Amino acid sequence: RLEIIQITSGARELDKILEGGIETGSITEIYGEFRSGKTQLCHTLCVTCQLPLDQGGGEGKALYIDAEGTFRPQRLLQIAERFGLNGADVLENVAYARAYNTDHQSRLLLEAASMMVCSYDSRQCYSSLQNRFFWKRRIVSEANASGKFGVAVVITNQVVAQVDGSAVFAGPQIKPIGGNIMAHASTTRLALRKGRGEERICKVISSPCLAEAEARFQISSEGVTD
Ligand code: GTP
Repeated sequence: RLEIIQITSGARELDKILEGGIETGSITEIYGEFRSGKTQLCHTLCVTCQLPLDQGGGEGKALYIDAEGTFRPQRLLQIAERFGLNGADVLENVAYARAYNTDHQSRLLLEAASMMVCSYDSRQCYSSLQNRFFWKRRIVSEANASGKFGVAVVITNQVVAQVDGSAVFAGPQIKPIGGNIMAHASTTRLALRKGRGEERICKVISSPCLAEAEARFQISSEGVTD
């Protein structure tokens, strides 16, 4: 079994309620109204996942599937500098794909999963690729894909805030975009909302292991900070 790693969000208070950060082996759903910080948090994670383990990183790479066209490499360079990482190396380790519709997004995910199967077991990948049907079924039957591959999956969703502070989903109800691929991975749900100025508040809404706590953080040109 792969070890679970926590990837720092960039803010200590936020990491505290997440018991270390965004976890590998499960899905984290982040929802919040526009400008609540979802995009900035994802940009920050693209960088922090590359940090050494002892600095809250995963010594890994990121795949960013962008449905809104809000990905900014320039922002990654600013965040990289904050963490003392080489900007060019950081960009090299982030694979980017723009998704134009839901079908396209699903296809990109399936492709990503197949790439992970390949690096997980190249022998299996080779034989599987001989038969596309088998290959596809093989991926879908990875009961706990994110657990098996040791990846952290983060999904964002925009919601519209209600006067009473509750949230309504702007788009379709949250559903893990991995479909069957991710069906059995556990899910942590985080809600973001705006505070004063650049302050944002994150609340753990549901999680298999975290308490329903809140944390405050800031958004700056260097991503998510305290
Ligand atoms: P949508 O993409 O609109 O759904 O929102 P989101 O939740 O993804 O918000 P996003 O992460 O894009 O956060 C946008 C907010 O970040 C804005 O309100 C800005 O105040 C703040 N922000 C972005 N860049 C900077 C920056 O360079 N400096 C500061 N101080 N704030 C920034």
